Amino acid sequence: MTDQYAVIGNPIGHTKSPLIHGLFAEETQQDMTYTAIEGPIDPEDAFADVVRAFAAQGGKGMNVTAPFKLKAFAMSDARSERATLAGAANALKFEDGLIVAENFDGIGLVRDIEVNLGLPMAGKRVLMLGAGGAARGALLPFLAACPSEMVVANRDVTKAEALAAQVAGRGPLVACGYADLETMGRFDLVVNATSASLTGDLPPVAPGVFGPECTAYELAYGKRLTPFLRLARNAGVRGVADGVGMLVEQAAEAFAWWRGVRPETRGVIDRLTVPLD
Ligand code: ATR
Repeated sequence: MTDQYAVIGNPIGHTKSPLIHGLFAEETQQDMTYTAIEGPIDPEDAFADVVRAFAAQGGKGMNVTAPFKLKAFAMSDARSERATLAGAANALKFEDGLIVAENFDGIGLVRDIEVNLGLPMAGKRVLMLGAGGAARGALLPFLAACPSEMVVANRDVTKAEALAAQVAGRGPLVACGYADLETMGRFDLVVNATSASLTGDLPPVAPGVFGPECTAYELAYGKRLTPFLRLARNAGVRGVADGVGMLVEQAAEAFAWWRGVRPETRGVIDRLTVPLD
């Protein structure tokens, strides 16, 4: 029987995952289907029922998107360290009657920055804005890339501090509020991992954080020049990127985890890229 995969989220109409995985399957000649499922928000446990039903009728794996990443993690039987730190799963594998949780968001982001954009993070000063689920998922892969310093800024400083405490000893991480950034100098890479762009808002970051050769990276994708990217541009930043490469790279990681073969990503990224201007 053809192996079945799906992405689950709510809303799910905008998802690019079936297209991406369809292209991967074609390229690597895998016999599989990949569909989109709108997961139920209510009642509380209805999401887990839908996931279990998909696995029971032969599903092999799922991608999980908002707002279900925490629930997917909570219902899993086994978890990677990355998923555990994030407290969230963006990919599930169903094997031997167990649900295994992974989180490829952070590693997808690092691959996009280092491989696709050609910007090794080793020795660089990196600023991450936000301390929610997206930032948590990125933290371990970021620290593993050996930046000289990594700063996490959040409106609610206690959340940034809690994150720093969780990864203590893994790398040079500093937690702060936005006002503190004024005295922290310039950065080589600034990543907007807040959800501000989803509502057209701008995190209260001063333009002085952008260094002369800085890259500004927006996790959201398909929103063209967000207020954050516009701020960076106006501050003289030439390298601005949105999260389309991260989306494709995390998909490739999940695909490799499920199928044992890593697809090429360049052509798919080019196909999905929308000019920022
Ligand atoms: P996600 O899963 O997308 O990360 P989340 O876990 O709800 O979503 O976290 C949202 C993040 O965006 C938080 O860091 C939040 O900051 P606070 O914890 O201080 O609320 C941040 N955020 C949301 N809107 C923002 C805005 N307009 N300016 C700055 N930060 C914002």
